[in-house]
Amino acid sequence: MRLFKGDIIHTKTPNQFEVFEDGYILEDNGIVVEVGFELDKKYPIVKIIDHTGRLLLPSFVDLHTHAVQYANLGLGLDEELLSWLEIYTFKEEAKFSDISYAKKVFSYLLDDIVKAGTTRVVFFGSIHEEATELLIEMSIAKGIGAYIGKVNMDRNAPDSLLEDSDNSVAITKRLLRVGNDKVKSIITPRFAPSCSEKLMRELGELEDKLEVQTHISENRDEIKWIEELFPDAKSYLDVYLKNGLISNRTILAHAIFSTKEELSVIKEKGAFIAHCPSANVNLTSGVMDAKFYLDQGINLGLGTDVGAGDSLSIRKNIVLAIQMSKINHIISNEKKILSFSEAFYLATKRGGSYFGKVGSFEKGYKLDMLVIERDKLADIKDFSLVEKLQRFIYSGNDEMILERYCEGVKLFFY
Ligand code: GUN
Ligand code: FE
Repeated sequence: MRLFKGDIIHTKTPNQFEVFEDGYILEDNGIVVEVGFELDKKYPIVKIIDHTGRLLLPSFVDLHTHAVQYANLGLGLDEELLSWLEIYTFKEEAKFSDISYAKKVFSYLLDDIVKAGTTRVVFFGSIHEEATELLIEMSIAKGIGAYIGKVNMDRNAPDSLLEDSDNSVAITKRLLRVGNDKVKSIITPRFAPSCSEKLMRELGELEDKLEVQTHISENRDEIKWIEELFPDAKSYLDVYLKNGLISNRTILAHAIFSTKEELSVIKEKGAFIAHCPSANVNLTSGVMDAKFYLDQGINLGLGTDVGAGDSLSIRKNIVLAIQMSKINHIISNEKKILSFSEAFYLATKRGGSYFGKVGSFEKGYKLDMLVIERDKLADIKDFSLVEKLQRFIYSGNDEMILERYCEGVKLFFY
């Protein structure tokens, strides 16, 4: 058991922070036992880790990013989605047939994710079995929690990225048995334009199928293409529904243009949407009405979506999610703004719920936590805990993160 002492802040609910200034978190074996004041008196023999004056907050959850696009970070963002895939992304992903290249990229990537304060992440890999398995092993070694998907795609891409659909399903099936409690495989049909119906149907029929991730309704040309490729489908979502790919263990990236009808099915199924504001603006895709999705009760989390997103920082995507919702409000007055606590909640507890009890310091939650250095300006000016958090999120930097924990295990980077 350990007692962590510091200025504790988290969001049990979207619309308010709960704070414990000079409080304690009692942890046992990676799980929060109790949070409150003067726990040192209640548990006098438990070792105290003293972070007095520092913020203790839940670490970040990234529901959508592409491990194999990390070396393309910042490149080609003058393009829109479909040309960006052709010109930049597919070429880069083809390189992951080379396992030594994969190893170099993944080691930088995992260091930089931990550095940015993210301890849970859902990765797209590439079509390659060996590289995907390597990413699973390296993520386990790093100590983060992750879902990692070998991408499935059997059409509309260069030959170097096309698979035989039977082989694609067989490899996916084998990889579902690799991993441990914290790092697991996830079924990853890239998006419907890259997958034949046969491939999607067979993935949807896998008996040990549980977690699924894909992309949906990110770009207007993509949606038009879906109408051409699937003339009988009632909607984009319908393509995935018909093939058994939508459940409360599905993550849909983007969903910017999903209709009210589609959103109500997503809500009813309990599927997750990964909101990726950086990617959405970089590829000129669109502005999601995140506040509306949250108010509908959809399982909404944040994703960095590297390399369409230009940073691994969820902190930066919290700010962008708020700013994009404000742009929406400026353009059409009836659209509502995402508040600071709501955006923080998406990045921690709501996104974290994909991983179980993650993203909050309530009893029974996994101790996923960041320790934030004391703000220098606090010497000359008083800040409330919420203001300290605002300063860290909006205008802080990763160097202010002194320690990172995933399920009570301290994480390191080089
Ligand atoms: N849709 C299909 N593939 C991709 C991808 O790699 N990135 C993004 N942002 N959207 C996609
Ligand atoms: Fe993506």
